[in-house]
Amino acid sequence: MLIAIGSDHAGLEIKTEITPILRELGHEYVDYGSDTAQAVDYPDFGEKVSDAVSAGNADRGILVCGTGIGMSIVANKFPNIRASLCNELLSAKMSRLHNDANILVLGGRIIGKDLAKEIVRTWMTTPFEGGRHLDRINKIAIVEEKTKRDHRVKLGMSR
Ligand code: RB5
Repeated sequence: MLIAIGSDHAGLEIKTEITPILRELGHEYVDYGSDTAQAVDYPDFGEKVSDAVSAGNADRGILVCGTGIGMSIVANKFPNIRASLCNELLSAKMSRLHNDANILVLGGRIIGKDLAKEIVRTWMTTPFEGGRHLDRINKIAIVEEKTKRDHRVKLGMSR
């Protein structure tokens, strides 16, 4: 798979630590930055990665900021994105099994390097279970469409 990765300054160290795992598992990645310890704004990097996955230019994404919260908020604004903040292993496993998460978000100031690597390994190797969970994620897509439509109507815009 092609994985889009990105971080702000607070996630840079963990992002650097996890890239060898992606290669080891046979994946390619594109790094959308940041690549400096200088303070940057997480929405700028969250947007690039989320847009790549949403548009189908990457199969999945991984985002890292300080807590993972800001990146999660940004990523879940994008169509077709199911971003999951996983700072422990059970969430990493369940977000794939039940939610078919396509962006993994990590909190670089919350977890250590070894745990981050294990989370990435688990998230990258756990398949989606499908079945009733597919029905549920299809409902998320319906909510997304309906919300967009209702919002346009509220704003008095044509459909
Ligand atoms: C940066 O200080 C920090 O706010 C950011 O990395 C992230 O944790 C935001 O949610």
